[in-house]
Amino acid sequence: MRVIIGITGGIAAYKAAELVRLFRKAGHEVQCVATSHALEFVTPLTLETLSGRRLYSDLFAPVNEHSTEHVSLKDWGDIMIVTPATANIIGKMASGIGDDALSTLLLAFSGKPLYVCPAMNTQMMENEAVRRNLETLKSWGIHIIEPTEGELACGAVGKGRMEEPERIFDIVTKDLERGPMGGKKILITAGPTYERIDSVRFIGNYSSGKMGFALAEEFAQRGAHVFLVTGPTALSAKHHNIERIDVESARQMYDACMERFDSCEVAVLSAAVADYRPENVYDGKMKKQGDEGMEIRLVQNPDILATLGKRKREGQMLVGFALETSNEMEYAQGKLQRKGLDMIVLNSLRDKGAGFGTDTNKVTIIDRDGNTTEGSLKSKTDVAKDIVDAIELKLKS
Ligand code: CTP
Repeated sequence: MRVIIGITGGIAAYKAAELVRLFRKAGHEVQCVATSHALEFVTPLTLETLSGRRLYSDLFAPVNEHSTEHVSLKDWGDIMIVTPATANIIGKMASGIGDDALSTLLLAFSGKPLYVCPAMNTQMMENEAVRRNLETLKSWGIHIIEPTEGELACGAVGKGRMEEPERIFDIVTKDLERGPMGGKKILITAGPTYERIDSVRFIGNYSSGKMGFALAEEFAQRGAHVFLVTGPTALSAKHHNIERIDVESARQMYDACMERFDSCEVAVLSAAVADYRPENVYDGKMKKQGDEGMEIRLVQNPDILATLGKRKREGQMLVGFALETSNEMEYAQGKLQRKGLDMIVLNSLRDKGAGFGTDTNKVTIIDRDGNTTEGSLKSKTDVAKDIVDAIELKLKS
């Protein structure tokens, strides 16, 4: 594996040298990229000797192999770790600033696992802007390896000590060694949507979210970072690699997906999204309308899956679900084509134990090349394994 280690100006920079050594010892290639402040704490000679490669630090230095080193390096590296990460580099990352070698490379480095190991004084760590910036990075799927508590360089005791190099090495390698899903970013939708009629009523459906949560858990266990965009459900997501985003309506789910899809390798849309919503939402509780009944006019919701199908770029994989009651194969294949999918998971409501609310499911997986795999009735956890296996296989090919 090719590891880029970004080093910024904090006393913990000496720990970065140890991290370089650990990766090299384990047989990985390492490229160090340091800010000028980092080099006040650790010398180029130390980093170059330990990594066995020329340090990249000056955006304009004549020794650079190429004038656009930040671009060639982002292609070279498989993963990147910023260690230690000062409040300054975290702020630059969150705001898209590239004013030196490291920050420019970070702007270019996308679609691959990126770890940030903050190290700073406790008050800085608790600063509103720093917390907000870290939350922003997390929402983009960047892995934050939280600092620990202990004695800090300033003499104070508190949170802000950079995690030990051995621990960082363990976290990163464990994430990455879990097969082809290691470090990948996955978008999943789950559950129902609620479409408001008035302040106390909505149009919903019986989806429990169990299939989507089982998928999120399976991906996370295989090392992926999962964005789980879920409609209202009583379920809880357990794995620390799952980032849950709660939404209520189809339009909120749409916005949450659009925000995250570009950074993901795979999207699996298992939510039961309402196709229509009331045109007007009544402010307050609607009163009874008399004996002649009442009408609520519905308007169409955006189709999240079809929109992502159009937006999908080379290398991204899009998987949809189809819940059918008749002409199952024909309808599912039609959706696969129409919505620009790579794969579709078909549930037939004619199968007992399959579909909404149950703990079991029975699915047929159909890919774009027409390959069809019919599964048996299994727990949703086992069905999730089958689906993720099929996705892994497709990604490999
Ligand atoms: N879906 C979506 N956004 C919508 C509706 C559906 O993302 N507004 C996704 C679901 O999550 C699922 C797939 O599309 O992955 C299947 O949706 P479905 O409602 O069965 O497809 P439709 O095209 O609406 O066809 P139908 O006429 O059967 O309702």
